[in-house]
Amino acid sequence: MSIVSNTLKRIKPSPTIAVTQKARELKASGKDIIGLGAGEPDFDTPDNIKQAAIKAIKDGDTKYTAVDGTPILKDAIVKKFKRENNLEYQIDQITVGAGGKHVIYNAMMATLNEGDEVIVPAPYWVSYPDMVLLAGGNPIILKCNEKQGFKINPSELEKSITKKTKWIILNSPSNPTGACYSEKDIREIAKVLEKYPHVYILSDDIYEHVTYEGFKFFTIAQIDSLKDRVLTMNGVSKAYSMTGWRIGYAAGPTEIIKAIAKIQSQSTTNPSSISQAAAVEALNGTQDFIKERAIAFQERRDFVVNSLNKIKGIECLNPDGAFYVFPSCKGLIGKKDSSGNVFKTDTDFVQSLLENNGIAVVQGSAFGLEGFFRISYATSMENLKKAMERIKSFCESLN
Ligand SMILES: Cc1ncc(COP(=O)(O)O)c(C=O)c1O
Repeated sequence: MSIVSNTLKRIKPSPTIAVTQKARELKASGKDIIGLGAGEPDFDTPDNIKQAAIKAIKDGDTKYTAVDGTPILKDAIVKKFKRENNLEYQIDQITVGAGGKHVIYNAMMATLNEGDEVIVPAPYWVSYPDMVLLAGGNPIILKCNEKQGFKINPSELEKSITKKTKWIILNSPSNPTGACYSEKDIREIAKVLEKYPHVYILSDDIYEHVTYEGFKFFTIAQIDSLKDRVLTMNGVSKAYSMTGWRIGYAAGPTEIIKAIAKIQSQSTTNPSSISQAAAVEALNGTQDFIKERAIAFQERRDFVVNSLNKIKGIECLNPDGAFYVFPSCKGLIGKKDSSGNVFKTDTDFVQSLLENNGIAVVQGSAFGLEGFFRISYATSMENLKKAMERIKSFCESLN
């Protein structure tokens, strides 16, 4: 009999972390690898934030804090929601965890009973279905194809709602497609959700600040009729280049917030006191660099999308945000690489691209949609130029 639990057998390790790890290993063995798999900004954490952490250490802020966040950080989060999203929350409607991932995991553990359904639009962030499974729920995958810009079709959403639906997860800007929902898109989805008061909405806004060309961010909690059943998750990882600091947060109904704190009190306790102090500075300090960084990301997106669309067999939409694109490689299925391998799936294509050409990307099937791959352009322009040339010559070499 295996020591490993049955629950654990339901899930798989994160495929994006697996690609990053494989690329790291190939690099360490001396291969010339360009990693386009990682989901983190290549920019450093701004200095004012680092200084706040150093001060916290020097001041002795090195003890346990309140389980789900210090009052001063919760206050900064309340102000953030008011300033940026025009949303009013009380302190007891806020929770802080060790990263956005932790907060979503806790929310699923705190709310799902065996067999509860969670609607997960695909392409999805790789962790959603597995977190639902870990919590005993059933992920219901709602496919959103490229013709609809990888966004939810409201009437198809309605068809996927049942009596057992507990949550729908919304993620805009999206990982892996970069798709962004406008206020109009969200209002159309809201019209459907207004009819089903038993359905809660988890809005994953972690890429809020990575949007381009005047795209106006809108989040579903801004719709008054739904606010009471929305849990809005966000964090400092992507906006402030703080992936390693592990601070994420959410705002929503006090019943859920309290349940999350209960889980956290018996698992991780508080997130790092030093990281919390840094997050206070991130949210309350200057926000100037956010725009500058978004402009840099936009230049990279323009370059990557233009370069990909010049390659025969690849087609790429031009998304409004996040630092990902999700091109189709359907035109290359059936082709053969120089070692004689025939590509039957996107995974075959991606593996050959890594092994023969040293480019690490992630297959679309890992995100629930076959025939695509995800490129993260959160890397230098120099790397992107090299990578696009290599992808082009690789694709042209296929028979
Ligand atoms: C869509 C999405 N949500 C949540 C997260 C979690 O972010 P973190 O746990 O670093 O705050 C990520 C990270 O890659 C993500 O892409």
